[in-house]
Amino acid sequence: MRAVAVREGGKTAADLCIIDVPRPDVGRGHVLIRVTHAGVNRPDILQRRGLYPPPAGASPIMGLEVAGIIESIVPHPDWGDDVAWNIGDRVCALVNGGGYADYVSVDIRHLLPVPQGLSLAEAASLPEVSLTVYANLIEHGGLKAGEAVLVHGANSGIGSMTVMLGKSFGAKVITTVRGADRIDWVRALGADVVIDTTTGDFVEAVKAEGGADVILDIVAGDYVAKNILCLKPKGRLVQVGMARGNTAEIDVTRLMQKQAIITGSMLRPRSPEEKARLTSEVRARVWPLIEAGAIRPVVAKVFPFAEVGAAHEFLDSGAHSGKVVLEL
Ligand SMILES: NC(=O)c1ccc[n+]([C@@H]2O[C@H](COP(=O)([O-])OP(=O)(O)OC[C@H]3O[C@@H](n4cnc5c(N)ncnc54)[C@H](OP(=O)(O)O)[C@@H]3O)[C@@H](O)[C@H]2O)c1
Repeated sequence: MRAVAVREGGKTAADLCIIDVPRPDVGRGHVLIRVTHAGVNRPDILQRRGLYPPPAGASPIMGLEVAGIIESIVPHPDWGDDVAWNIGDRVCALVNGGGYADYVSVDIRHLLPVPQGLSLAEAASLPEVSLTVYANLIEHGGLKAGEAVLVHGANSGIGSMTVMLGKSFGAKVITTVRGADRIDWVRALGADVVIDTTTGDFVEAVKAEGGADVILDIVAGDYVAKNILCLKPKGRLVQVGMARGNTAEIDVTRLMQKQAIITGSMLRPRSPEEKARLTSEVRARVWPLIEAGAIRPVVAKVFPFAEVGAAHEFLDSGAHSGKVVLEL
């Protein structure tokens, strides 16, 4: 089968190439998916650069989410023969690597159906952002209806899902973007407030809106101290990324005064059982919102498989709003 590899010694997008490799083994409790589309995510770029090695036991091939067709099924003896899926089903899934290839082996418990009315390309853009945002905004952040959420980089894959999920769960959604050209796009997702950080600091603007109960932060660095200033009493700051750096200096007095909580999480190192639980939550609570049209996939661009290098460059350039997808 075809799979993407990085040329020996290379780390740039131009070093990505397509090679021929054997199909993956399909263990108990797994299905083989014929991949039609794969989501392109920032960790793929870090992996290409050698900065995010695949965890032990994971495929060395890049790619953390896919959509495609079930090619074969190997039931798990302890889970019974009653597999809820059939060969030929259209599915999408979070995968622990291996998505940039014609076939990938996926834990049966991590499968999600392609939401009704969506294309396979759109479905491939959903697992990573749906699971990450549900886990961090709803579970870690404990967002409740009537509360206010702040999300930075609202034009990003994670940011756009946070806007739509936050609105769907009854929250006021305050956002920041870098540039006036992003404002209308983020408003169209349903954001109540869009702050352009290229024209001024966001802290006063968020305070003027009454502050945030939950902040989902993909940038960290100097934003952490500013985020704490934006939190309401008993607010929760949830870190899921670190575009501005992984260290921060904060005034802990502010934390104590506000009885605030700082937390964070990563999706990839979670156990298969934990990912299975999360997948089932997302299927029950997020998939109906997608099928009802309250949450829609936001695919910025679909690249042919042979142009995987261009897809990485496009994502890395920051020119996109929404998600980038490969078509195999
Ligand atoms: N913890 C987890 O489990 C988990 C899971 C998935 C993703 N993530 C992380 O979440 C982040 C977003 O992922 P994504 O796929 O949504 O990425 P993406 O679409 O590439 O978006 C990146 C966003 O970050 C903004 N940004 C980049 N550098 C910035 C800076 N220095 N200051 C302020 N904003 C900045 C970008 O703004 P512009 O558009 O203006 O450049 C853009 O909105 C990534 O860091 C990713 O690693 C974490």
